Amino acid sequence: MAKMKTQIGIVGAGPAGLTLAHLLHLEGIESVVLERQSREYVETRVRAGVLEQGTVDVLCGSGVGERLKREGLEHGGVELRFGGKGHRIDFQELVGKSITVYAQQEVVKDLIAARLAYGAPLYFEAEATGLKDYDRDPKIYFQLGGECHEISCDFIAGCDGFHGICRPALPGEQLEIHERHYPFGWLGILARVPPASHELIYSYHERGFALLSMRSPEVSRLYLQCAADEDLNHWSDDRIWGELRTRMATRDGFVLRDGPILQKGITPMRAFVASPMQFGKLFLLGDAAHIVPPTGAKGLNLAVADVRVLAQGFVEFYKRASSRALARFSDRCLERVWKCQRFSGWMTSMLHRFPQEDAFAHHLHLAELDYVTCSRAASTTLAENYVGLPFDSRGRF
Ligand code: APR
Ligand code: PHB
Repeated sequence: MAKMKTQIGIVGAGPAGLTLAHLLHLEGIESVVLERQSREYVETRVRAGVLEQGTVDVLCGSGVGERLKREGLEHGGVELRFGGKGHRIDFQELVGKSITVYAQQEVVKDLIAARLAYGAPLYFEAEATGLKDYDRDPKIYFQLGGECHEISCDFIAGCDGFHGICRPALPGEQLEIHERHYPFGWLGILARVPPASHELIYSYHERGFALLSMRSPEVSRLYLQCAADEDLNHWSDDRIWGELRTRMATRDGFVLRDGPILQKGITPMRAFVASPMQFGKLFLLGDAAHIVPPTGAKGLNLAVADVRVLAQGFVEFYKRASSRALARFSDRCLERVWKCQRFSGWMTSMLHRFPQEDAFAHHLHLAELDYVTCSRAASTTLAENYVGLPFDSRGRF
């Protein structure tokens, strides 16, 4: 068996693993990143696309934001649409911040290019198969090119997403799992057609939620609320566009042009938190530790927030010989994670139709949306959560 040694063994080259590896590299801390998929797979996987200002600052501040600054679409607000009318929530005016639309796989591409350019270890098609002694003398076993390898490291960062091996390696009886399944999903499409609005539109309709987002001035990303067990085969392109038009319609004749659908898929909706996010010398970050329903656009941003906390912890450990920040990793992350769960859950219940909802419930949705868009206090609540809470959860809003 081939053996290697590093300071931080990172499992997973999604946004969490790659951002962590990059921030550590800038601090002179060594890591090895293992990714079970191919480079092409992770660079083309269609995922989320909204970056909080704090996430943009981390990427730009660490020197991987050149393309993001050039190609990212900065938005100073979003629209909430209901009752056939749109209402803008003006982030800039309410909280002086913006969000940036830039696809997750573009963030991943930029981070991979940076890591390969400075020649730091990143292995694709390298599947971690087991962890050992993570409380004393951590080791990661992985398969690469049909051979088994071993990494000895000071710490393991489990950045291997919801279906990875790091969370299941923890003692189940000491791990609290908090979970909620929503009785619906999202049917998402990527289409080659200019976005029908230059900002995102979150639409509540009697037939269910719809969302208009984008990837570039030529490519739209759209979603429809659907059944949790929806069969994609029942959704022809015409049916998708027809349903989107119905749910996005306004009294003043909003026009949604269709175009070739490049990709479609169903996303289940769930909320999940594993606590604590650390055991011994093993830390969980991003989707490995928590999942939020996508209505608040928080998944990727939460992963970057975890990374920031852990990177600071490692810097204190290696440069100031202090484990204090590392010991507080889970508590610090979870405070913010639960606030983002709260926001994502609130956006989800406000904007979706739940099974068996009656006319009373429909009127409550409309009243809540009316209140949120009319009250400056309520709009500000939405805006400050959407653009991103401070990384330090005790920070001022
Ligand atoms: N060995 C190596 N790599 C693994 C293993 C394993 N055993 N198991 C999983 N991986 C890899 C996956 O292939 C994936 O590329 O770990 C990576 C995890 O990446 P993500 O799922 O993107 O998770 P994360 O980096 O936490 O990013 C969170 O992703 O799904 C979105 O909404 C989510 O935007 C959020 C972001
Ligand atoms: C997206 O562009 O994919 C997107 C935007 C906003 C969300 C979720 C997804 O809330």
